[in-house]
Amino acid sequence: MTETDHGVGEAVAARIERRWAILSIVIVGLLVGMATFIGIHQATMPQGRVETSDPRTLHLSGEFVESNLGSTLEADGSVTVRAIGQQYSFTPQCIVVPAETPITLRATSADVVHGLLIEGTNINTMLVPGYVADLPIRFKAPGEHVMPCQEFCGIGHQGMWGKVKVVDKAAFAKLAAARRRLTCVD
Ligand code: CUA
Repeated sequence: MTETDHGVGEAVAARIERRWAILSIVIVGLLVGMATFIGIHQATMPQGRVETSDPRTLHLSGEFVESNLGSTLEADGSVTVRAIGQQYSFTPQCIVVPAETPITLRATSADVVHGLLIEGTNINTMLVPGYVADLPIRFKAPGEHVMPCQEFCGIGHQGMWGKVKVVDKAAFAKLAAARRRLTCVD
């Protein structure tokens, strides 16, 4: 290799390096632009109010005591579901809700950060100890949906699965008449 060859090689390397630097800035710019567009276009906003819960007393008093978990039919015809996630299960393990009904899902964690995802819906939230996740859901038709934990929460994470059973509105009303808190845990 001669002196000139060496100089040409260096110039080519510098040019390629500059191209890669520009490309990576363009990619970052594109991603920021996409996030900004989606955020503004879909009016994505952080939750308007923050609700807290105390993981140390979750089982002892308040909204998330065991007897208060599950689905409940409210006076206005809507349904409220309360659930907790803990290593490595959801309580209740199986949630029963009616179709064609506005549902509010309220959930929190009793220990570490878990995730709650309902397959086939846009429900996908983190369950953070100390905070209450409050989400509106509506199911069009009866059916079953799996509900895995989607945040790595420890050694048993991959076994942390729940289920959502959507039943006919009339069938749910009949169940709700017999019991105040409903689940489909056998
Ligand atoms: Cu709980 Cu992963």
